[in-house]
Amino acid sequence: MSRIKIKDILSSGEVGQKVLVKGWVRTFRSNRFIAINDGSTINNLQAVVNFENESEDTLRRITTSAALAIEGELVASMGKGQNIELHAEKITILGDANPEEYPLQPKKHSMEFLREKAHLRMRTSTMSAVFRVRHALAFAVNKFFNDKGFKYLHTPIITGSDAEGAGEMFRVSTLPLGNPPMTEEGQINFEEDFFGKETNLTVSGQLEAEAGAMSLGEVYTFGPTFRAENSNTSRHLAEFWMIEPEMAFYELEEDMDLAEEMVKYLISHAMEHCADDMEFLNKRAADEDKTKPANERWDLGLLERLNFVVDNSFERITYTEAIDILLQSKPHKKKKFKYPVEWGIDLAAEHERFLVEKHFKKPVIITDYPKDIKAFYMKQNDDGKTVRAMDVLFPGIGEIIGGSQREESLEKLKTRMAEMDIPESELWWYLDLRKFGTAPHSGFGLGFERIVQFVTGMGNIRDVIMFPRTPKSAEF
Ligand code: 4AD
Ligand code: MG
Repeated sequence: MSRIKIKDILSSGEVGQKVLVKGWVRTFRSNRFIAINDGSTINNLQAVVNFENESEDTLRRITTSAALAIEGELVASMGKGQNIELHAEKITILGDANPEEYPLQPKKHSMEFLREKAHLRMRTSTMSAVFRVRHALAFAVNKFFNDKGFKYLHTPIITGSDAEGAGEMFRVSTLPLGNPPMTEEGQINFEEDFFGKETNLTVSGQLEAEAGAMSLGEVYTFGPTFRAENSNTSRHLAEFWMIEPEMAFYELEEDMDLAEEMVKYLISHAMEHCADDMEFLNKRAADEDKTKPANERWDLGLLERLNFVVDNSFERITYTEAIDILLQSKPHKKKKFKYPVEWGIDLAAEHERFLVEKHFKKPVIITDYPKDIKAFYMKQNDDGKTVRAMDVLFPGIGEIIGGSQREESLEKLKTRMAEMDIPESELWWYLDLRKFGTAPHSGFGLGFERIVQFVTGMGNIRDVIMFPRTPKSAEF
């Protein structure tokens, strides 16, 4: 008999049908009712054991997380919340899970506890739902761009450049840690390293994607990126996935239109294709919300929030307008912001939250930031002070997307690099893109885990990636 997935049994299994299921025990009640799950759906199948049929030994080994194969017949169920169940005729224990040792109980564990059991936590309902939604979102990214004719590029993980110029790179080296070869000037001699030069893990695929856009027109990358920033927040990872489209002949407005369209598409796709998981996560988010202090609670439930974002246009304002709003705001006047507001500051999380959650109460796109707080490659405005940057800010998350129109003028780009002490020799190939057939172009980066967080309602970014890498922790 060939195996049938539980998702298919629950959606289209027929009374009287003989089936074989394989999965893991969630619970076993009264020596009679097994809730079994195979990962295909959030819902468990109830298998009813005929204990006269089964040996003492088998019954004893049906414990939480044991792997089983069950053959039997589908029957109409009396239980609430399910219309079909399985009358077990033959149970085979595929793998035991000794309850004395198995660390997860069939009860609610804290997310912190589950993080320490990252290799097992996807067996819980919450985490399995999160990872099915994560999958659906990843699939939707590729579908969205494919349907528009964008080409998926795989940009390098190991690189010699610092795309964001923030110096937050993990070094990649084959040199011995203890006594690396030194130059006569007393510097580490990277000429003896594997690549003959200093290299690092990429912080962004953007610069290489620009090379793609300047030949294929519309491209995107979707891969792991790395930041050695010491941020211990619920929004930062040292290793995260980023989606970076890059488009020739797009100006900033078209860049923003694409970003907004993409995010709405991803959210709609998840709601449509993961309805059961989303319903579960919606309830979970509502329960979690109740435990929060009144001023941190959401006005809307998770699904309502997602529908709201899909149905409403994002607010678009300039950085200068954002600063004016903040200067007029109560928290500023009452000196309630921790970081004082003035033109030129990098907006702190508290400022972003005020704009998104209190002032506009919807996603906000902020454009035209001061050039001194943004990367070297952004197109300079004529005012000499600002650049054609755009950040998309989301309620509860803060920055979800960062992007810009790129500087296409070779002269302006070289001048900016000189001002920022970026040697031309490091980015000679990038400058070539301006030397040969330069054209207006734009792009952005969406932090994949941040959109997964928003869609699933998970409060901590560590709970939407399998094995989170954060400062001082890479246990798995
Ligand atoms: O704003 P960022 O640094 O922009 C870039 O890297 C550009 N090269 C993108 C581009 O224009 N192609 O990062 C983009 C997004 C952020 O908005 C955020 O969502 C996410 O990446 N991000 C992080 N996510 C998790 N952990 C971190 N440490 C992150 N740093 C950035
Ligand atoms: Mg940014």
